[in-house]
Amino acid sequence: MCGIVAYIGKKEAYPILIKGLQRLEYRGYDSAGVALLSNGNLNLYKKQGKVANLEAFTVGKDVSGYAGIAHTRWATHGEPNDKNAHPHYSESEEIAIIHNGIIENYDVLKEELKSRGFVFKSDTDTEVLVHLIEDIQKKEGVKLAEAVRLALLNVTGAYAIVVLSKNAPNTLVAARKSSPLVVGIGKEGDFYLASDATPIIEYTNRVVYLEDEEIAVVDLNEGFRLWNIQDEEKTPYIQELEMKLEALEKGGYEHFMLKEIHEQPRSIYDCFRGRLNAKEGWVELGGIKEFEQKIVNAQRIVMVACGTSWHACLVGEYLFEDLARINVEVEYASEFRYRNPVINEGDIVIAVSQSGETADTLAALELAKSKGATILGVCNVVGSSISRITHAGSYTHAGPEIGVASTKAFTAQVTVLTLMALAIAHKKGTITETKFHSMLTELEAIPAKVSEVLLANDKIKEIALQYKDATNALYLGRGSSFPVALEGALKLKEISYIHAEGYPAAEMKHGPIALIDEEMPVFVVATAGTSYEKVVSNIQEVKARKGKIIAIVTEGDQQVKNMADAVIEIPATDEHLVPLLATVPFQLLSYHIAVMRGCNVDQPRNLAKSVTVE
Ligand code: AGP
Ligand code: GLU
Repeated sequence: MCGIVAYIGKKEAYPILIKGLQRLEYRGYDSAGVALLSNGNLNLYKKQGKVANLEAFTVGKDVSGYAGIAHTRWATHGEPNDKNAHPHYSESEEIAIIHNGIIENYDVLKEELKSRGFVFKSDTDTEVLVHLIEDIQKKEGVKLAEAVRLALLNVTGAYAIVVLSKNAPNTLVAARKSSPLVVGIGKEGDFYLASDATPIIEYTNRVVYLEDEEIAVVDLNEGFRLWNIQDEEKTPYIQELEMKLEALEKGGYEHFMLKEIHEQPRSIYDCFRGRLNAKEGWVELGGIKEFEQKIVNAQRIVMVACGTSWHACLVGEYLFEDLARINVEVEYASEFRYRNPVINEGDIVIAVSQSGETADTLAALELAKSKGATILGVCNVVGSSISRITHAGSYTHAGPEIGVASTKAFTAQVTVLTLMALAIAHKKGTITETKFHSMLTELEAIPAKVSEVLLANDKIKEIALQYKDATNALYLGRGSSFPVALEGALKLKEISYIHAEGYPAAEMKHGPIALIDEEMPVFVVATAGTSYEKVVSNIQEVKARKGKIIAIVTEGDQQVKNMADAVIEIPATDEHLVPLLATVPFQLLSYHIAVMRGCNVDQPRNLAKSVTVE
């Protein structure tokens, strides 16, 4: 969703805000804007499009000021244009607001305000809030923070807001519910606020993650204070972040996505570091330790997620069912939350989410929690909303994933789910010691094997060149490689805009085979395993209809090699771990095709990195 940044202190705010917006642009880039307090004036500039448009627009304008708020938008209410860009002024233009989230009852509030003569300049839900704040402040004669609190009591929905007023020149007021907000405690009595820590980390590593319905006031004279929406003061919990700035840079790669694909040997290692030891024969997920017995006893595990994370859950389903013999249901969070699902007290509900902020996944978890289930999280962002509402969980430790298309987060999620399934299977005794040790050994070898797969980059680039102009594509896989097919198709769709579908290989005969002709590239995971011969038959069916076969095979495979138009070899590994290797060629393939098609790989059209609205 969108990105919000704010600053108040002794430095010039504008450069800090612009740099912060650039770091958050992956969260949405429909428009950008800034409001600055300078010499008693509240100046506001905003433009449709990227941050660069805003910078060009402010050339020659007064962008001085020691306090400011800034926003890069991913529109939910009101199309992406100048007037709907944030910040939004109040009627008097003495207050300005930026907002991430949705004011769900904005229409009722808007009608009431309009009936009392308020004039709206935008079509957004957000503008309602700044008018409400000013209306309350004038009627009740209260300070800005109290006006914000009273206004939010009238609001339903999600928000991370920062409010700036020319009548409170030493203060910023912030609040959050469901959308993320971090306060950075500067070293010179100054304060930084943002949707996540990336715009803050170069100035300070001391941060406070706001909890839901908390209101923060940062004041140059009074410092940082925190209340909840019931007006009870709270003691802020200050964390010291270890994230380093260079982790945010592209590290010499052309795109964040390529960097993150190549980070996977490291990110998978970081994911299991300290959590497994093949030599000594143990797996230890400290984050869920106290819930292991509950999982062992569970009749059912429900996994909820969206997009790529949902594909990771599908891999998890194969792992938990085969190794730990527990019934697993994988649900699209958006469907689960509205289906009035049957959730029993003994159920374990696991949410998988890179951002930890996906609205549907968060809501599905809250529903499960309200019905008595034990809720666990597998998230990548420390301190994210999902990680904070769950009873327990395990971070994927993949590091910041900036590219909108998820890559290293997916393999990290699969790694965590593999560790979980192994830990539970071992505790339950549903896996032999031999199999357990063998899988641990194989898992420890995965980072090196991913490095080997990455060496096929040039060959994959040649294949990309052959198929970059395709208009459709099919991805096929069986068993735990079926989710790999789905993930490969999603990667191609979301960054190269080529229509692609993933299918269980056996399903092709039930319809999609009608699509096969010499124009249709079919990408197949045909690695050694229990269903290898069946996949070979599927390949023959495609070939019989002149379809093009590009197959991912186990090193040394000759049979498929003689049939396919192209093969990408990956090292042999335990069949359960194939997704960790087979996904990588599909990531690189979609990356190279997208680059060849001139697509914006890191910020594909219409997409945002974290979908914090429904
Ligand atoms: C995947 O490449 C997409 N970026 C998208 O499907 C993403 O996986 C989905 O929006 C879920 O996001 P989350 O993992 O942050 O919850
Ligand atoms: N709902 C607000 C709007 O559409 C905020 C969207 C966002 O979070 O970017 O402007």
